[in-house]
Amino acid sequence: MQLNDTNQAVPAESGAYKPLIVAFCCNWCSYAGADTAGSSRLSYPSNIKIIRVPCSCRVNPLFILRAFQRGADGVILCGCHPGDCHYTTGNYYARRRMTLLFSMLDYLGIERERTRVEWISAAEGAKFAATMNEFAETINRLGKNRKLRDLRCEI
Ligand code: FES
Repeated sequence: MQLNDTNQAVPAESGAYKPLIVAFCCNWCSYAGADTAGSSRLSYPSNIKIIRVPCSCRVNPLFILRAFQRGADGVILCGCHPGDCHYTTGNYYARRRMTLLFSMLDYLGIERERTRVEWISAAEGAKFAATMNEFAETINRLGKNRKLRDLRCEI
């Protein structure tokens, strides 16, 4: 048993593989959906790291490639439902960019299932939790992502 910074006991590492998953969530819907999931006491894996962005269109596809380079095993982009974007058309741009990114990932030989786009509203806490659990299961099944990984980023 080890102690953390606040002298609380931390169980020893089990050595089980836990993938690193990055979730880009737009502030207005998906991030609020994550809050709703939390306040409804719905759980999703703790290895999903949420990055809040103002709108799904803020996510440049290069952010996703960079996440893979820096060790992510899966990346999910969540935004408002089409037609509900708080910046009117942001998610339409995101959708088009992601379509192009999917073809690029095919070209690079990265499994398409490692990246996903979901539209989740602020009221859909259950959908948020279900999506994250399902995505984490998919990434667990695929295993560690070795392609694109920048070895200089390894600790
Ligand atoms: Fe949510 Fe644009 S504000 S996708």
